[in-house]
Amino acid sequence: MTQSPHSADGRTTPPDSALVRELRGQRGRTRPVWFMRQAGRSLPEYREARKGTGMLEACLRPELAAEITVQPVRRHGVDAGIFFSDIVVPLKLAGVDVDIVAGVGPVLGAPIRTSADIDALPELEDSALEPIREAVRLTVAELGETPLIGFAGAPFTLAAYMVEGRPSRDHLGPRAMMHSDPGAWRALCEWTARTSGAFLRAQLEAGASAGQLFDSWAGSLGLADYEEHVRPASGSVFDAVRDLGRPLIHFGTGTSELLAAMKDAGADAVGVDYRLPLAEANRRLGGSVPLQGNIDPALLRAPWGVLEAHVRDVVASGAQAPGHVVNLGHGVPPETDPAVLTRLVELIHSIEDDAPAG
Ligand code: CP3
Repeated sequence: MTQSPHSADGRTTPPDSALVRELRGQRGRTRPVWFMRQAGRSLPEYREARKGTGMLEACLRPELAAEITVQPVRRHGVDAGIFFSDIVVPLKLAGVDVDIVAGVGPVLGAPIRTSADIDALPELEDSALEPIREAVRLTVAELGETPLIGFAGAPFTLAAYMVEGRPSRDHLGPRAMMHSDPGAWRALCEWTARTSGAFLRAQLEAGASAGQLFDSWAGSLGLADYEEHVRPASGSVFDAVRDLGRPLIHFGTGTSELLAAMKDAGADAVGVDYRLPLAEANRRLGGSVPLQGNIDPALLRAPWGVLEAHVRDVVASGAQAPGHVVNLGHGVPPETDPAVLTRLVELIHSIEDDAPAG
């Protein structure tokens, strides 16, 4: 266990890592890999650690959050930890009545419908973020040389939960609000951007090596709506942490048409879901942006030979991008056999670039 160095201002300087180099476009000979939702129900040690503890309560207990974050790194040998928390944790810390209901997702006691609801939203106090900083400090100390990825929910995805009050498929509520009451929509996005920005900043200041902004549901938007009603707020989240100099990844699902706009919001690297081959994503981004992705989570339950061929395709498809961090195209499904993930990490680490650039 290596202790991370603390600088005079109390901030922690992260270790150098293959993940960070790759996200900066310094392509290594092999691909770093981590999995979205690598910590969670696919792991028996997670189910054991979580017994009797609610999801949000677990996120706010620093020792437990650190232990759960480290579990998949220990087991699979992935190249990064992703901080165990949730996109709605900063809402909870601000005082919003929100819970995560097992098998459902985030549910709000009082969904946001009007300008008055938005004006009444509480501001997130910096001191409320202390359990997050403490959990990150414990985690980076435990991870040693392995980098930790911090994250936050993007304004649209958070606003979608806040307006609908619960998960939805079409996000009609938030998409209607951005057109019928653009002022209220802007105010809501500004609140979520401030709140998420502070949450991400706390993680990076406490020692996370990189950050990922999850705009999981941005794929329900057309490009024009995204650019006009969403991208400025997502840009504010990136702006809130830019001075810290850590690489920032922007990810959504169903966002094949939005990749360039998501890059332009202020990301250094773009996460691609399983729908679009990486070679095509790279073309759409002008060949200049490090990519992350995009193994189809459905194939985790396919016969090994089918999965192996798919993974080799994914790595080959990403070969022209300036950097490529392997990941799934979305989160690990809870019923995944963890042994398959461990074997995947070994496979990915065994594939070398034919002619490494630089
Ligand atoms: O390894 C990791 O990625 C761990 C950290 C993490 C969680 N949530 C833990 C979690 C991260 C990065 C998130 C982000 C998150 N939360 C997103 C963006 C990523 C994505 O999946 O698109 C979203 C949309 C949420 C909201 C949310 N939280 C949903 C839809 C759910 C699923 C509800 C369910 O039970 O199926 C959650 C709960 C949640 N967040 C769990 C975990 C491990 C499951 C809770 C449990 O184990 O009981």
